[in-house]
Amino acid sequence: MNLNIDQRKIMDDWYYNEFRQSGIDFENESEVAEYDEKYRNNRNLDNEAKYIIELLELNNNSIVFEIGTGTGELAIRLSKLCKHINACDISKTMVNHAFKKAINEKIINITFSHSGFLNFEIIPNYFDAIITQLALHHLPDFWKSVAINRMVKTLKPGGKLFLLDSLFSFECASYEEVINRNIEQAKNKMGLRIANEIAVNIKDEYPTYNWIIEGLFIKNGLKIIRKTRHTELMSSYLCIKV
Ligand SMILES: C[S@@+](CC[C@H](N)C(=O)[O-])C[C@H]1O[C@@H](n2cnc3c(N)ncnc32)[C@H](O)[C@@H]1O
Repeated sequence: MNLNIDQRKIMDDWYYNEFRQSGIDFENESEVAEYDEKYRNNRNLDNEAKYIIELLELNNNSIVFEIGTGTGELAIRLSKLCKHINACDISKTMVNHAFKKAINEKIINITFSHSGFLNFEIIPNYFDAIITQLALHHLPDFWKSVAINRMVKTLKPGGKLFLLDSLFSFECASYEEVINRNIEQAKNKMGLRIANEIAVNIKDEYPTYNWIIEGLFIKNGLKIIRKTRHTELMSSYLCIKV
Protein backbone atom coordinates (compact mmCIF):
# COMPACT_ATOMS: atom_id res chain seq x y z
CA MET A 1 0.00 0.00 0.00
CA ASN A 2 1.46 3.37 -0.94
CA LEU A 3 0.05 5.80 1.56
CA ASN A 4 1.39 9.07 2.82
CA ILE A 5 1.92 9.39 6.56
CA ASP A 6 -1.39 11.18 7.28
CA GLN A 7 -3.47 8.61 5.41
CA ARG A 8 -1.59 5.77 7.11
CA LYS A 9 -2.29 7.26 10.53
CA ILE A 10 -6.04 7.49 9.84
CA MET A 11 -6.06 3.91 8.60
CA ASP A 12 -4.05 2.67 11.56
CA ASP A 13 -6.92 3.76 13.79
CA TRP A 14 -9.36 1.28 12.30
CA TYR A 15 -7.41 -1.17 10.13
CA TYR A 16 -7.37 -4.70 11.54
CA ASN A 17 -4.09 -5.91 13.02
CA GLU A 18 -3.82 -9.30 11.36
CA PHE A 19 -0.37 -9.89 12.88
CA ARG A 20 -1.93 -10.38 16.31
CA GLN A 21 -2.36 -14.14 16.77
CA SER A 22 -5.91 -15.43 17.31
CA GLY A 23 -6.47 -18.95 18.63
CA ILE A 24 -3.43 -21.18 18.11
CA ASP A 25 -0.19 -19.20 18.38
CA PHE A 26 1.70 -19.85 15.15
CA GLU A 27 4.60 -17.63 16.26
CA ASN A 28 5.42 -20.22 18.90
CA GLU A 29 8.61 -22.12 17.92
CA SER A 30 7.49 -25.53 19.21
CA GLU A 31 4.03 -25.18 17.61
CA VAL A 32 5.73 -24.60 14.25
CA ALA A 33 8.39 -27.29 14.74
CA GLU A 34 5.68 -29.88 15.49
CA TYR A 35 3.20 -28.71 12.83
CA ASP A 36 4.12 -31.13 10.02
CA GLU A 37 4.41 -34.07 12.40
CA LYS A 38 1.01 -33.34 13.91
CA TYR A 39 -0.73 -33.78 10.56
CA ARG A 40 1.49 -36.53 9.16
CA ASN A 41 -1.12 -39.25 9.78
CA ASN A 42 -4.16 -37.15 8.98
CA ARG A 43 -3.22 -35.40 5.72
CA ASN A 44 -1.75 -36.61 2.46
CA LEU A 45 0.03 -33.52 1.18
CA ASP A 46 1.09 -35.12 -2.12
CA ASN A 47 -2.55 -35.87 -2.89
CA GLU A 48 -3.59 -32.36 -1.78
CA ALA A 49 -1.05 -30.81 -4.17
CA LYS A 50 -2.07 -33.12 -7.04
CA TYR A 51 -5.75 -32.30 -6.50
CA ILE A 52 -5.06 -28.54 -6.49
CA ILE A 53 -2.81 -28.71 -9.57
CA GLU A 54 -5.50 -30.56 -11.55
CA LEU A 55 -8.40 -28.49 -10.27
CA LEU A 56 -6.70 -25.15 -10.99
CA GLU A 57 -5.09 -26.46 -14.21
CA LEU A 58 -1.68 -25.19 -13.07
CA ASN A 59 1.26 -25.57 -15.44
CA ASN A 60 4.80 -24.31 -15.98
CA ASN A 61 3.50 -20.84 -16.92
CA SER A 62 1.45 -20.41 -13.77
CA ILE A 63 2.20 -17.63 -11.31
CA VAL A 64 0.61 -18.58 -8.01
CA PHE A 65 0.11 -16.88 -4.65
CA GLU A 66 -0.32 -18.93 -1.48
CA ILE A 67 -1.60 -16.98 1.51
CA GLY A 68 -1.08 -18.49 4.97
CA THR A 69 1.55 -20.88 3.66
CA GLY A 70 2.44 -22.20 7.13
CA THR A 71 5.39 -24.57 6.89
CA GLY A 72 5.46 -24.18 3.09
CA GLU A 73 4.64 -27.80 2.24
CA LEU A 74 2.17 -26.95 -0.51
CA ALA A 75 4.20 -24.03 -1.92
CA ILE A 76 7.25 -26.29 -2.22
CA ARG A 77 5.28 -28.99 -4.04
CA LEU A 78 3.72 -26.43 -6.43
CA SER A 79 7.08 -24.78 -7.11
CA LYS A 80 8.24 -27.97 -8.84
CA LEU A 81 5.61 -27.49 -11.54
CA CYS A 82 4.76 -23.78 -11.66
CA LYS A 83 6.75 -20.82 -12.95
CA HIS A 84 6.74 -18.86 -9.71
CA ILE A 85 5.12 -19.03 -6.29
CA ASN A 86 4.67 -16.11 -3.92
CA ALA A 87 3.99 -17.40 -0.43
CA CYS A 88 3.17 -15.33 2.63
CA ASP A 89 2.27 -15.82 6.25
CA ILE A 90 1.76 -13.45 9.18
CA SER A 91 3.90 -15.67 11.40
CA LYS A 92 7.61 -14.87 11.10
CA THR A 93 8.39 -18.25 12.66
CA MET A 94 6.38 -20.03 9.94
CA VAL A 95 7.93 -17.99 7.11
CA ASN A 96 11.48 -18.64 8.39
CA HIS A 97 10.73 -22.34 8.75
CA ALA A 98 9.28 -22.60 5.22
CA PHE A 99 12.12 -20.53 3.74
CA LYS A 100 14.78 -22.80 5.28
CA LYS A 101 13.01 -25.87 3.92
CA ALA A 102 12.96 -24.39 0.40
CA ILE A 103 16.66 -23.45 0.63
CA ASN A 104 17.50 -27.00 1.73
CA GLU A 105 15.70 -28.29 -1.35
CA LYS A 106 17.54 -25.71 -3.53
CA ILE A 107 14.24 -24.20 -4.69
CA ILE A 108 14.66 -20.75 -6.21
CA ASN A 109 11.21 -19.95 -7.61
CA ILE A 110 9.38 -19.19 -4.36
CA THR A 111 9.30 -15.67 -2.90
CA PHE A 112 8.40 -15.84 0.78
CA SER A 113 7.12 -12.77 2.59
CA HIS A 114 6.08 -11.93 6.12
CA SER A 115 2.63 -10.62 5.27
CA GLY A 116 -1.02 -11.60 5.22
CA PHE A 117 -4.43 -11.19 3.57
CA LEU A 118 -4.77 -7.58 4.67
CA ASN A 119 -1.23 -6.36 4.00
CA PHE A 120 0.21 -8.12 0.96
CA GLU A 121 1.19 -5.74 -1.79
CA ILE A 122 -1.53 -5.71 -4.44
CA ILE A 123 -0.06 -6.16 -7.90
CA PRO A 124 -3.18 -5.59 -10.03
CA ASN A 125 -4.28 -8.47 -12.32
CA TYR A 126 -1.08 -10.41 -11.72
CA PHE A 127 -1.68 -13.94 -10.42
CA ASP A 128 -3.11 -16.88 -12.33
CA ALA A 129 -4.21 -18.48 -9.10
CA ILE A 130 -4.46 -17.83 -5.36
CA ILE A 131 -4.56 -20.71 -2.91
CA THR A 132 -5.33 -20.44 0.76
CA GLN A 133 -5.88 -23.37 3.08
CA LEU A 134 -6.93 -23.24 6.75
CA ALA A 135 -5.94 -19.58 7.17
CA LEU A 136 -8.83 -17.21 6.32
CA HIS A 137 -10.72 -18.30 9.46
CA HIS A 138 -8.22 -16.20 11.46
CA LEU A 139 -10.08 -13.08 10.27
CA PRO A 140 -13.55 -11.93 11.43
CA ASP A 141 -16.17 -11.92 8.67
CA PHE A 142 -15.95 -8.26 7.65
CA TRP A 143 -12.18 -8.63 7.29
CA LYS A 144 -12.66 -11.84 5.32
CA SER A 145 -14.55 -9.66 2.84
CA VAL A 146 -11.68 -7.15 2.71
CA ALA A 147 -9.27 -10.07 2.19
CA ILE A 148 -11.35 -11.49 -0.68
CA ASN A 149 -11.64 -8.03 -2.23
CA ARG A 150 -7.84 -7.64 -2.14
CA MET A 151 -7.32 -11.15 -3.57
CA VAL A 152 -9.69 -10.40 -6.46
CA LYS A 153 -7.73 -7.23 -7.27
CA THR A 154 -4.45 -9.12 -7.57
CA LEU A 155 -5.91 -12.00 -9.61
CA LYS A 156 -5.85 -11.82 -13.42
CA PRO A 157 -9.28 -11.66 -15.06
CA GLY A 158 -10.22 -15.35 -15.33
CA GLY A 159 -7.78 -16.12 -12.48
CA LYS A 160 -8.79 -18.73 -9.92
CA LEU A 161 -9.11 -18.75 -6.16
CA PHE A 162 -9.01 -22.00 -4.20
CA LEU A 163 -10.07 -21.76 -0.56
CA LEU A 164 -10.22 -24.60 1.94
CA ASP A 165 -11.29 -23.65 5.44
CA SER A 166 -13.44 -24.04 8.52
CA LEU A 167 -16.79 -23.42 6.88
CA PHE A 168 -19.95 -24.69 8.49
CA SER A 169 -22.57 -26.37 6.33
CA PHE A 170 -24.93 -27.46 9.12
CA GLU A 171 -28.29 -25.89 9.95
CA CYS A 172 -27.91 -23.00 12.40
CA ALA A 173 -30.22 -24.57 14.99
CA SER A 174 -28.22 -27.82 15.19
CA TYR A 175 -24.90 -26.20 16.16
CA GLU A 176 -24.60 -27.83 19.59
CA GLU A 177 -25.21 -31.39 18.49
CA VAL A 178 -23.04 -31.06 15.35
CA ILE A 179 -20.08 -29.47 17.11
CA ASN A 180 -20.08 -31.95 20.02
CA ARG A 181 -20.38 -34.90 17.64
CA ASN A 182 -17.57 -33.68 15.38
CA ILE A 183 -15.21 -33.06 18.30
CA GLU A 184 -15.98 -36.52 19.68
CA GLN A 185 -15.36 -38.13 16.26
CA ALA A 186 -12.09 -36.19 15.86
CA LYS A 187 -10.96 -37.43 19.30
CA ASN A 188 -11.55 -41.03 18.27
CA LYS A 189 -10.10 -40.78 14.76
CA MET A 190 -7.29 -38.22 15.06
CA GLY A 191 -6.53 -37.95 18.77
CA LEU A 192 -7.04 -35.48 21.58
CA ARG A 193 -4.71 -32.79 20.26
CA ILE A 194 -6.57 -32.31 16.96
CA ALA A 195 -9.92 -32.51 18.80
CA ASN A 196 -8.75 -29.72 21.14
CA GLU A 197 -7.67 -27.65 18.14
CA ILE A 198 -11.15 -27.94 16.65
CA ALA A 199 -12.52 -26.62 19.95
CA VAL A 200 -10.02 -23.71 19.90
CA ASN A 201 -10.94 -23.00 16.27
CA ILE A 202 -14.62 -22.68 17.21
CA LYS A 203 -14.06 -20.79 20.48
CA ASP A 204 -11.21 -18.38 19.68
CA GLU A 205 -10.94 -18.10 15.88
CA TYR A 206 -13.51 -17.02 13.27
CA PRO A 207 -14.96 -19.97 11.34
CA THR A 208 -18.11 -19.01 9.44
CA TYR A 209 -21.01 -20.50 7.49
CA ASN A 210 -20.81 -21.56 3.84
CA TRP A 211 -23.68 -19.22 2.96
CA ILE A 212 -21.76 -16.26 4.39
CA ILE A 213 -18.53 -17.00 2.49
CA GLU A 214 -20.53 -17.63 -0.70
CA GLY A 215 -22.13 -14.18 -0.35
CA LEU A 216 -18.71 -12.62 0.18
CA PHE A 217 -17.31 -14.33 -2.94
CA ILE A 218 -20.18 -13.15 -5.12
CA LYS A 219 -20.31 -9.61 -3.73
CA ASN A 220 -16.56 -9.25 -4.40
CA GLY A 221 -16.76 -10.31 -8.06
CA LEU A 222 -16.05 -14.04 -7.95
CA LYS A 223 -18.06 -16.82 -9.55
CA ILE A 224 -18.22 -20.11 -7.66
CA ILE A 225 -17.19 -22.95 -9.98
CA ARG A 226 -17.03 -25.82 -7.53
CA LYS A 227 -18.01 -26.34 -3.91
CA THR A 228 -16.85 -29.40 -1.97
CA ARG A 229 -18.24 -30.16 1.46
CA HIS A 230 -15.52 -32.21 3.20
CA THR A 231 -17.27 -32.42 6.58
CA GLU A 232 -19.99 -30.45 8.35
CA LEU A 233 -17.20 -28.13 9.58
CA MET A 234 -14.98 -27.88 6.52
CA SER A 235 -15.52 -27.00 2.85
CA SER A 236 -13.49 -25.92 -0.12
CA TYR A 237 -14.33 -23.65 -3.04
CA LEU A 238 -12.95 -23.03 -6.48
CA CYS A 239 -13.87 -19.56 -7.73
CA ILE A 240 -13.04 -17.58 -10.84
CA LYS A 241 -12.61 -13.82 -11.24
CA VAL A 242 -15.32 -12.67 -13.64
C1 LIG B 1 -3.61 -23.88 10.34
S1 LIG B 1 -2.24 -23.07 9.62
C2 LIG B 1 -2.40 -23.60 7.92
C3 LIG B 1 -1.07 -23.64 7.22
C4 LIG B 1 -1.11 -24.25 5.83
N1 LIG B 1 -1.86 -23.43 4.90
C5 LIG B 1 -1.69 -25.64 5.85
O1 LIG B 1 -2.62 -25.93 5.12
O2 LIG B 1 -1.16 -26.47 6.61
C6 LIG B 1 -2.79 -21.40 9.54
C7 LIG B 1 -1.72 -20.46 9.03
O3 LIG B 1 -2.35 -19.22 8.67
C8 LIG B 1 -1.51 -18.18 9.11
N2 LIG B 1 -2.34 -16.96 9.22
C9 LIG B 1 -3.14 -16.57 10.23
N3 LIG B 1 -3.71 -15.38 9.95
C10 LIG B 1 -3.24 -15.00 8.73
C11 LIG B 1 -3.43 -13.85 7.92
N4 LIG B 1 -4.22 -12.84 8.29
N5 LIG B 1 -2.79 -13.80 6.73
C12 LIG B 1 -1.98 -14.82 6.34
N6 LIG B 1 -1.74 -15.92 7.08
C13 LIG B 1 -2.37 -16.01 8.26
C14 LIG B 1 -0.94 -18.69 10.42
O4 LIG B 1 0.21 -17.97 10.82
C15 LIG B 1 -0.66 -20.14 10.06
O5 LIG B 1 0.62 -20.32 9.51
